[in-house]
Amino acid sequence: MEKIGVVGLGIMGAGIVEVFAKSGYSVVGVAESDAAVSLGQSNLAKSLSRAVSRGKLTDEESSGITSLVTWGTDFSLMSDCDLVVEAAPEIMSLKAKIFSELDSCVKSSAILATNTSSLSVTSIAEVTSRRSHVIGLHFFNPAPVQKFVEVISTEFSDSDVVKKVVDLARGLGKEPAQIADQPGFIVNKLLLRYLNHAVRLIDDGISTRDIIDSAMREIAHFPMGPLELLDLIGLDTSVEVLNTIYDDTGIDTDGPASGLTARVNIGELGRKSGEGFYTYAQPHEPATSQDDEGKQRVYVELINAYLASACEMRDSGYATEHDINQGMKLGCGLPEGPFETIARVGSDQLPLN
Ligand code: 3HC
Repeated sequence: MEKIGVVGLGIMGAGIVEVFAKSGYSVVGVAESDAAVSLGQSNLAKSLSRAVSRGKLTDEESSGITSLVTWGTDFSLMSDCDLVVEAAPEIMSLKAKIFSELDSCVKSSAILATNTSSLSVTSIAEVTSRRSHVIGLHFFNPAPVQKFVEVISTEFSDSDVVKKVVDLARGLGKEPAQIADQPGFIVNKLLLRYLNHAVRLIDDGISTRDIIDSAMREIAHFPMGPLELLDLIGLDTSVEVLNTIYDDTGIDTDGPASGLTARVNIGELGRKSGEGFYTYAQPHEPATSQDDEGKQRVYVELINAYLASACEMRDSGYATEHDINQGMKLGCGLPEGPFETIARVGSDQLPLN
């Protein structure tokens, strides 16, 4: 594969452009409007300049990466791409429209991949005339940093296509897990249930943003608190993922918490809109709280539910302990996977109290 298309240039899409360009691929970044293209360009420029300022890239390397990317609003720019990765918002009708357009204008041998967070890859494949060449390729935010990717195959997938995409992901320096098409895949199902649970603690008046975020940073040693992580992922995306999980499981607590839907309804989508659980007009410091008892209570409540959910996923046969551990460590930057936590504390000590 030589030339890669990326459709949708939000934080995730621009991150995917960066991942491919850094590995030397020619990349075409396409979005629905000139404004969306400019946003993608500026997201890439910001990320590269951060890498330069940290001494991770030279100015020349940064310019070399930028020069590998062409930008535009026209799908025909991707006609000769070998792989197109779609990273548009989590709206099935939008993805269906994009895939049917891609199917008609990108060469027939190309692989079309969706970076969907939880929607059915099978349904997306079905709108095309090349169902065997449609696959899920799911990155994690920030895409240039997180090493895990989920490669999602469907009943239609050609095994050579799956292998090509797995090999490609390895070539990008990622660790791919091959999984079947199920709502939320591995990481988002575990992660979003945990994040949603955190919002419910606020909705129910049990805890506060600062206690929750500092508990999970300080006691669990997670890199971010759940509420700041929701802001990074996007509250609208989070609601969409939870709706998909809820439609599948029918479990009440899988439905999006009211503290999430209420914010989305007033346009507070997290970092991308400048306002979510935090305000992003200025850089913010991580939340802190001196309420040690409150933090311990929150930690115990959230970690027990998260570990139980990981065990349920393993026991259902959907994913292995290894893939679940790797997903949470390399997809979300956690210091250890859930089964490593269980081994460390001892399964006879669970649930923690
Ligand atoms: N783009 C590119 N690189 C970035 C970046 C960005 N947006 N943000 C941070 N980085 C890089 C930095 O340059 C730095 O690189 P270096 O180590 O080579 O110098 C490294 O990441 C660490 O950054 P910082 O020191 O600035 O900050 P932290 O150490 O606090 O790390 C973080 C920031 C990587 C975001 C870390 O907090 C983290 O891993 N958080 C968890 C994120 C997570 O859970 N992601 C998964 C969400 S689920 C998802 O995306 C799926 C979707 O479908 C919903």
